[in-house]
Amino acid sequence: MEIRKVGVIGCGLMGSGIAQTSAMSGYPTVVGEVSQALLEKGLGAIEKSLAKLVEKGTLSSDQKTATTARLAPTLRLEDFRECDLVIEAIIENLDRKKELFAKLDGIVKPEAIFASNTSSLSVTEMMTATQRAPRFLGLHFFNPVPLMKLVEVVRTVVTDPAAVPVVLDFARKLGKTPVLTSDRAGFIVNRLLVPYLLDAIRALEEGFGTIEDIDQGMKLGCNHPMGPFTLLDFVGIDTTYYIAEILFNEYRERRFAPPPLLKRMVLAGLYGRKTGKGFYDYTDPKSPAPNKALIG
Ligand code: 3HC
Repeated sequence: MEIRKVGVIGCGLMGSGIAQTSAMSGYPTVVGEVSQALLEKGLGAIEKSLAKLVEKGTLSSDQKTATTARLAPTLRLEDFRECDLVIEAIIENLDRKKELFAKLDGIVKPEAIFASNTSSLSVTEMMTATQRAPRFLGLHFFNPVPLMKLVEVVRTVVTDPAAVPVVLDFARKLGKTPVLTSDRAGFIVNRLLVPYLLDAIRALEEGFGTIEDIDQGMKLGCNHPMGPFTLLDFVGIDTTYYIAEILFNEYRERRFAPPPLLKRMVLAGLYGRKTGKGFYDYTDPKSPAPNKALIG
């Protein structure tokens, strides 16, 4: 098994970052979306990120041109036929993912490896939609993909041991550091991160401090690059709520239960950075203001 050609399905926040990183690392990369508008939006994000990396001197403009040339955007699943590794990064919905994998299974060459970038859904359950269980894994990237060094490689109880080093090696070729884990909701990082983020909301509701002070506490007291509320807005309030529900359903432990404030924010459309308002108001993105209406 050798990875020569990569496919990424879904060109949203995560998919565009994965496709970009794969192409930047020299892999011809097919990147798919369901509509031309979504494809163009994702390619626009890649262009912006590549331009930023050139501006910072991480990438030369020749490397940028070569990266763009390695990307093959498509709306057709047939174009993934010859990929050696197909990474799925579509919406976090198990039925939609299973439907996609079942279709892909009939198209992509049988020896290819399938991977899901899911953050919390069951890789094993997705795998059951295909006939290639031994070559099915989780490959969980972190946001922003071009900058974050970690990739979680998730094996199931039936993953072929020979497929694991192939995927670990692929992650290393992307300049990432892989960690190996098994298929349990949240894997390593979200299993630890999500209860922490939820606890920050509880601390806020219990009056331990303001949004800004709790953020400063963790930034300056623990050297985290972002405080929990900045990170919640960055990850997405809706995404965090969704992951917390999955973890709570799996483990039935209180620490994974989404606090009432989180649910109220989702209902009100306060999703964080992507909607311009969450724990902070991003009307002035350079100087986000804490959302004082949340408490009290
Ligand atoms: N591509 C290229 N450049 C990018 C970029 C991207 N996608 N995203 C940000 N940058 C650039 C910024 O534009 C900025 O450029 P500048 O220096 O010219 O202004 C530069 O990177 C650094 O950004 P910042 O100035 O904001 O400085 P930071 O040092 O804070 O770096 C960060 C940004 C890497 C996002 C950092 O704040 C960080 O590490 N935050 C924590 C992120 C994190 O925890 N991610 C994981 C979330 S959990 C997850 O993804 C799992 C999921 O399942 C929920």
